[in-house]
Amino acid sequence: MRCLVTGGGGFIGSNLVDRLLALGHQVTAYDNFSTGQRKFLAEAGRLAGFRLIEGDLLDAAALDGAMRGNDFVFHMAANADVRFGTEHPSRDLQQNTVATFNVLEAMRSHGVRRIAFPSTGSVYGEAKVFPTPEDAAFPVQTSLYGASKLACEGLIAAYCEGFGFQSWIFRFVSILGERYTHGHIFDFYRRLSEDPTRLHILGDGRQRKSYLHVQDCIDAMLLAIEKADDKVNIFNLGVPDYVEVNDSVRWITAHLGLDPALSYAGGDRGWVGDNPFIFLDVSRIMALGWQPRLTIEQGIVRTLDWLRSNAWVYGQRP
Ligand SMILES: NC(=O)c1ccc[n+]([C@@H]2O[C@H](COP(=O)([O-])OP(=O)(O)OC[C@H]3O[C@@H](n4cnc5c(N)ncnc54)[C@H](O)[C@@H]3O)[C@@H](O)[C@H]2O)c1
Repeated sequence: MRCLVTGGGGFIGSNLVDRLLALGHQVTAYDNFSTGQRKFLAEAGRLAGFRLIEGDLLDAAALDGAMRGNDFVFHMAANADVRFGTEHPSRDLQQNTVATFNVLEAMRSHGVRRIAFPSTGSVYGEAKVFPTPEDAAFPVQTSLYGASKLACEGLIAAYCEGFGFQSWIFRFVSILGERYTHGHIFDFYRRLSEDPTRLHILGDGRQRKSYLHVQDCIDAMLLAIEKADDKVNIFNLGVPDYVEVNDSVRWITAHLGLDPALSYAGGDRGWVGDNPFIFLDVSRIMALGWQPRLTIEQGIVRTLDWLRSNAWVYGQRP
């Protein structure tokens, strides 16, 4: 395939770029490096099948030029930080929904009809059913991020119906692993590096969350694209398990050999729009033969090890 990977310089996008190149595909990464890192594409840059285009998805003309000649789009770029939506109400709309519209239009004008899209378990709002299946009702949206991703899903499905596109929509739990640059392990490790004697935790630490290692996530995406052939293919991606934030704190501090005094901000959630319980039903992807290789604990430890040996990312992501 000749693939365009938007957000190819990001955490998940750059891991995907490396995998696609290893599988022999031709890959163009399109990124404005707002949160992505050029260093993540250093190895890819040495390979003949790789091309980097530095550009913004809101620049429709640049995107149109990058789309030419491709036959598959992995649209990984987004404002991926769930937490600060209410501080910048237009950011999720612009970076997620409008940007996705631009990607779909560029695809349409070049006859590119196949798209994979990373959505989020946040689209289920405060789910009523656990584990939450793909056909669960969406009770109420609680974050601007989740709402913008749901709007993207809607646009993609409508382009499938209206313009003969085919899509694979993946609702991720939180993804962990090498090149991870945002999320609770990133924050905890930074705070513990600054002061190993104490750790402040948002919420009450009882929030229940599910996590998936980035390589398991990519395995699942590629398998679904290979095996699922509906017009719109929707898959939850996560491990069939969840942990409490307190479990995660325990594993992180034990792995670092620390025993900090813990304090809690209180309340049942970390921030407005934080869902205190995320646990997705992943039987649909598992029925295709996919199994996660790493447990949540193994994923957390590997992420921590990567952050410890790549402390430079803290200078890039203040
Ligand atoms: N990391 C997770 O836990 C998680 C969970 C659910 C969904 N997702 C989704 O997966 C995708 C990748 O997330 P990630 O964690 O790798 O985030 P990331 O921030 O590391 O990657 C996003 C990439 O997109 C680029 N980008 C952002 N806006 C752009 C624009 N306007 N034009 C061009 N490039 C732009 C950034 O520079 C970055 O390289 C996102 O769509 C995110 O919403 C991630």
